[in-house]
Amino acid sequence: MLRAVPLFQDLSDTDFALMNDLAIEKHVPKGTVVMTEGTVGDSLFTISSGRVKVFIGDEDGREIILKILGPGDFFGEMSMIDSQPRSASVATLEPSVFKVLSHQAFAQCLERAPRIATLVMQALAKRLRDADRKISTLALMDVYGRVANTLLELAIDSNGKLVVGEKLSQQDIANMVGASREMVNRILKDLSDRGYITVESKTITIHDQKLPPSF
Ligand code: CMP
Repeated sequence: MLRAVPLFQDLSDTDFALMNDLAIEKHVPKGTVVMTEGTVGDSLFTISSGRVKVFIGDEDGREIILKILGPGDFFGEMSMIDSQPRSASVATLEPSVFKVLSHQAFAQCLERAPRIATLVMQALAKRLRDADRKISTLALMDVYGRVANTLLELAIDSNGKLVVGEKLSQQDIANMVGASREMVNRILKDLSDRGYITVESKTITIHDQKLPPSF
């Protein structure tokens, strides 16, 4: 499964086998915090299966979801690179399987396949671009636009239809856009009433890519 992780595709079969031996497999149930913001960490997680949310929380239990990551993605690289505490917390949204590499094991991989460093830099650049977009969305769009924009970002083409297939609760969407669950519920209902989306159990189909800007 680890072969599917783009980060490790450049390793030769021998090096890959070595890395696979060094990595520890972790099976984690849904709703588990696997990394806590502010704590010391020196391991890199790659996702073999499942999905996680990367988030920042406050003492009152409120949180903002920075990103949702799935199979093939990795996290925990930042503390490994700069030896600073974890920049965010990470929790499983579904039962998940991870391969965990210690700092030492990761250094060994880098030695054997230096291109991994370029891939990590590319991933970091993409994260910064995504974060820039998120900042501008949070600062410049009203809550209706933020919800609509988030739906479009999460949607994938499924047999010619734009579908948000990720099982996300309204609370998750609220935590991604910095709004209350009640407000997200109102906006989804309005979009649905106006025929822009269809909400079915936990999938949302988008019928018009030009979602309206406001109520
Ligand atoms: P680290 O700081 O070690 O621990 C938390 C991890 O969350 C971090 O490494 C990244 O892997 C990940 N992370 C933090 N911020 C973002 C973001 N904006 N987008 C995606 N992943 C992130």
